[in-house]
Amino acid sequence: MTPKILIIGACGQIGTELCIELRQIYGKNNVIASDIRSGSDALMESGPFEILDATNLDALENIILHYEIDDVYLMAAMLSGTAEKFPMKAWNLNMNTLFHVLNLAKEGKLKKVYWPSSIAVFGPSTPKDNTPQQTIMEPSTVYGISKQTGERWCEYYHKRYGVDVRSIRYPGLISYTTPPGGGTTDYAVEIFHEAVDKASYDCFLNEETSLPMMYMEDAIRATIQLMQAPSEKVKQRSAYNLGGISFTPKDLAAEIKKHIPGFEITYQADFRQAIADSWPNSIDDSVATNDWGWSHKYELPQIVEVMLAGVRKQEIAT
Ligand code: SER
Repeated sequence: MTPKILIIGACGQIGTELCIELRQIYGKNNVIASDIRSGSDALMESGPFEILDATNLDALENIILHYEIDDVYLMAAMLSGTAEKFPMKAWNLNMNTLFHVLNLAKEGKLKKVYWPSSIAVFGPSTPKDNTPQQTIMEPSTVYGISKQTGERWCEYYHKRYGVDVRSIRYPGLISYTTPPGGGTTDYAVEIFHEAVDKASYDCFLNEETSLPMMYMEDAIRATIQLMQAPSEKVKQRSAYNLGGISFTPKDLAAEIKKHIPGFEITYQADFRQAIADSWPNSIDDSVATNDWGWSHKYELPQIVEVMLAGVRKQEIAT
């Protein structure tokens, strides 16, 4: 049976592309987009949309009952950089929305829940290279603390109440359709826009900062693959490690230079350097591979190629 899906935070960097892909698979009227504000024309024209503040439980429940929703994808969150500026606001948004959705699932009003976690669950005491699925986790950022706590609650709701909740620890996500908002890995998106516009970029992380990254298409495929996997294959009910690739700003700049020879990068680390320094360099995602067959497709040269082409196309269109 075709599930009826609600996406919360559908206008964000992940939500926009996830929504469009889910509509291709399940039909536009089976995928309800929602967000606190309206989104891009492409998203707004692609199917039903509701304005929703997901911290408002009544409003959320009304939409779920009205559309007879089966599965929720909870993509609304405050990311790492912004959360450091508004700790309490980030905590309330990130946690309350998760509790609302988990409780509605516990009450039998939902069949499945998708909630994104992040590499931010790891901290300075975590092994940095090839970080394993199970390891020391002492996150030092507000965002990381909210994601780590969220993982614990997801696992708890699954074990205690049988809630079918699934999650991925996304690495930094690279895409050109919708800009990211307030993350530490955002440099790896900004750099492409500035490379195309002015052939230079002033990076807010230093040149040797290695972080796990992934092209959006891979991340969307992983998300849908995990949600479609038979329940018994989903053995991690906290969240799955997902690695993709790892590179530094210097590696990325060198790859961009192959396409834009005059491209120049300068470095001026700001407060986000400390956040990046607390996260892994690379991730071991073999548990996701074993449990539900995950493997990434995009390596750095391909990412740079599609990103430059995508940003250029976008700039011509606007
Ligand atoms: N990309 C996110 C951030 O930088 C991490 O999940 O906040």
